[in-house]
Amino acid sequence: MKLADTKATLSFSNGSPSVDLPVYQGNVGPDVVDIRKLYAQTGMFTYDPGFLSTASCQSAITYIDGDKGELLYRGYPIEQLATHCDFMETCHLLLYGNLPDATAKADFTKRVTMHTMVNEQMQFFLRGFRRDAHPMAIMTGLVGALSAFYHDSTDINNPEHREIAALRLIAKMPTLVAMAYKYSMGQPYMYPKNNLSYAGNFLHMMFATPCEDFAVNPVIERALDRIFVLHADHEQNASTSTVRLCGSSGTNPFAAIAAGVACLWGPAHGGANEACLNMLEDIQKIGGIAKVGHFMEQVKDKNSGVKLMGFGHRVYKNYDPRAKLMQETCKEVLTSLGLENDPLFKLAMALEKIALEDEYFVSRKLYPNVDFYSGIVQRAIGIPVNMFTGVFALARTVGWIAQLNEMISDPEYKIGRPRQLFTGSVKRDVLPISKR
Ligand code: CMC
Repeated sequence: MKLADTKATLSFSNGSPSVDLPVYQGNVGPDVVDIRKLYAQTGMFTYDPGFLSTASCQSAITYIDGDKGELLYRGYPIEQLATHCDFMETCHLLLYGNLPDATAKADFTKRVTMHTMVNEQMQFFLRGFRRDAHPMAIMTGLVGALSAFYHDSTDINNPEHREIAALRLIAKMPTLVAMAYKYSMGQPYMYPKNNLSYAGNFLHMMFATPCEDFAVNPVIERALDRIFVLHADHEQNASTSTVRLCGSSGTNPFAAIAAGVACLWGPAHGGANEACLNMLEDIQKIGGIAKVGHFMEQVKDKNSGVKLMGFGHRVYKNYDPRAKLMQETCKEVLTSLGLENDPLFKLAMALEKIALEDEYFVSRKLYPNVDFYSGIVQRAIGIPVNMFTGVFALARTVGWIAQLNEMISDPEYKIGRPRQLFTGSVKRDVLPISKR
């Protein structure tokens, strides 16, 4: 970051001396006012719940222009990456900052693929869960448990450990998600097949059984790969900030990523794809497209607590570019599977059309986000609704690790420790129990 010519001056109406605050510029996007010395200079904190105006770090990984609806990974537009690159190239880009040439890609893919199996003991650990446990509950446990199985890559201050932990996490997430699915189905786990692509291998581990041959459908493989690319990183969102905060204490990468998985689970974040599909199914049950008007009235009624899931975003105040690409993939997958008339897809399109013209949504700049269509694609592929967020976690793992490693390599990094505006009781004395 570089110092801007401008300075910010903070003045007070009570006559306290004003303070000058440095302003820094990034390469693109809003400048930031540096308040690091504010407390020392004034005895005051800033107040920003939900981090509406706070840049929590400097980062060179992902850039979003929410007004334009632009998303760049290391400078490359998401549309170009989704069209010309696969997930392995995207992982390489996010982790190392550059798109690999053919040799580097083959080398990186090999290094990831070598780590696809998980320690055999993991399946006994998995068996402790109820069969009907939510896959995200299982994922939180399994990912955290990796630190107990891979002691040799838990030192975050060792760059080699960080590198191996990164490769292990990227490689093992599909295996763990598929194991959680097979466990819920009561089917045997399928070991990874390293001659398949990353997405193809995931499909194999999810849907193959030992009793039949399984052929990966290339349209579905490509669609899944695109889902992975689109979800790979999204700058300082809730789960990524969780990973950074958790990792800032010096904890091991597996524990930090498990914290990210837990955060992603929430319906306002990664859980939105599951919530969105459930919403579409609920509308379908009460009458489908004919009931869309009634549903929208509920959404607009503040007292109903109903939200149009898959709509709205903290940063995008325009169409989420990932939603456009996902809609495209959705059409492709449904056509290739002969599901062009899928009622939920039609319902989603009808909801989108109404919302994009409705004053409530227009005035609040609420547009479809990535989750609006990703659930329909995953459902068409055969992934059960409660696994959707697990697939999101699998794809986001590379982003979490890239951000965690960027933070640890930053000489300025400190343990994250926000402050507060205290509104509780001031100091008081404990009364004996008989007098309370
Ligand atoms: N349906 C109806 N109203 C909405 C919606 C929605 N989906 N999203 C926002 N609003 C309203 C909100 O009630 C508020 O209205 P008012 O100004 O009258 O009080 C206004 O729009 C601004 O919303 P906000 O809650 O202040 O916005 P936020 O930035 O705090 O929240 C959000 C962003 C994503 C949590 C929210 O839009 C939401 O809950 N959307 C539905 C869940 C969803 O799809 N989440 C996935 C996000 S993308 C995937 C990811 O990154 O994880």
